[in-house]
Amino acid sequence: MTVQAFRGELLSVPRDPQLDPAAVRYDADGLLVVEQGIVVARGAYADLAPRFASVPVSHLRGLIVPGFVDAHIHYPQMDRIAAHGEQLLDWLDRHIFPAEQAFASRAHADVVADAFLNELLRNGTTSALVFPTVHAHSVDALFDAALARQMRIISGKVLMDLGPAGLADTAQSGRDETETLIARWRARGRLGYAVTPRFALTSSDAQLHVAGQLVADHPDVLMHTHLAENLREIAAVGERFADAADYLDVYDRFGLVGARSVFAHGVHLPDRSARRLAETGAGIAVCPSSNLFLGSGFFDFGQAQACGFRTGLGTDVGAGTTFSMLHTAGLAYQAAQARGVRLDPFRALWLATAGSAGLLHIADRVGGLEAGQEADFAVLDDTATPLLARRTAGASLADRLFALQILGDDRAIRQTWIMGQCAWNRT
Ligand code: GUN
Ligand code: ZN
Repeated sequence: MTVQAFRGELLSVPRDPQLDPAAVRYDADGLLVVEQGIVVARGAYADLAPRFASVPVSHLRGLIVPGFVDAHIHYPQMDRIAAHGEQLLDWLDRHIFPAEQAFASRAHADVVADAFLNELLRNGTTSALVFPTVHAHSVDALFDAALARQMRIISGKVLMDLGPAGLADTAQSGRDETETLIARWRARGRLGYAVTPRFALTSSDAQLHVAGQLVADHPDVLMHTHLAENLREIAAVGERFADAADYLDVYDRFGLVGARSVFAHGVHLPDRSARRLAETGAGIAVCPSSNLFLGSGFFDFGQAQACGFRTGLGTDVGAGTTFSMLHTAGLAYQAAQARGVRLDPFRALWLATAGSAGLLHIADRVGGLEAGQEADFAVLDDTATPLLARRTAGASLADRLFALQILGDDRAIRQTWIMGQCAWNRT
């Protein structure tokens, strides 16, 4: 079937509603017309029905929103989610590096990649920027599994020549493997590549320099790393790079700060860093669940707004404690509250969809359910639990959306559709 239509309640926020209050697009009785996986029309059913009278229509019960875009997540960490007791640096040593060492086995990587992408789909997530491990075949495993599901996944071998035994590459092998992977995966399916130094502390100066060269040589890739997450980490970066102006400046000196740079966290950013992010077009994947779990702190939405740098939302599993971008949006509200900022539910939905898509430079393809974009969407059920049903009965759209963010999670995802095909169905 090449043309199909979906009738139901349609909601999307293709632009930041803080900058453009008209950004919220809502059709209580809407029609989404899809041809070969691409949205060709979207609007009120009454307006569009005559034009598409011959197209078969599926009725979808629930709130249809763009598929979620997770701007920062680690697939090898899914089985170490909920690891007790440590903050970032000790948590990495005690829980995470041992888990990542197991990815020396390609067979293990295949099993986890499969489970990981299924879990994304169960949670309504259709696109993601993903950390694999240092092993080149961990990228192959993820991309093979994403290709089979037609998912929009961006990833790239982790560079970490100062990593622990079994997880350390070298500046040369990191460069060679990255080049090979870029050549192998370029322009395949809906995949994208990201040059991925883990963070400043696990790469030598020589490797950070290589990462900068790779980014300069391949203008179509992203740069993906961690920034200013946890106070002990920041102190260690300050000690090693004593002459840098701040943490971001370390990356800047190696050519790693630009419009296609995605930094996870940015919980503790000096204003200089925030202004520099804005000036270069770089942005932050905000990860509130992880920041709470590791005791890192609360992202400063007020500073982000004042300085005007890009933002998106990430779960950061396994430091993040949920795959649900809906629940993560609710935690972003709570993190904003901790800093005295009121995050609007429509803006939180934007962050989880088109905001993240913008950060990942895929906003022309996904995130808004606009004509010309790929038909990736989730169908939300605001009666998924007895409490949600009580809270949302007769409520306004904003209240229903907020209740879904605060009370909802994977249980509230009725279906997930990829390029107009049902990829996951709860019942
Ligand atoms: N910083 C460096 N590596 C990691 C990681 O795996 N998770 C988080 N949250 N921060 C990091
Ligand atoms: Zn992370």
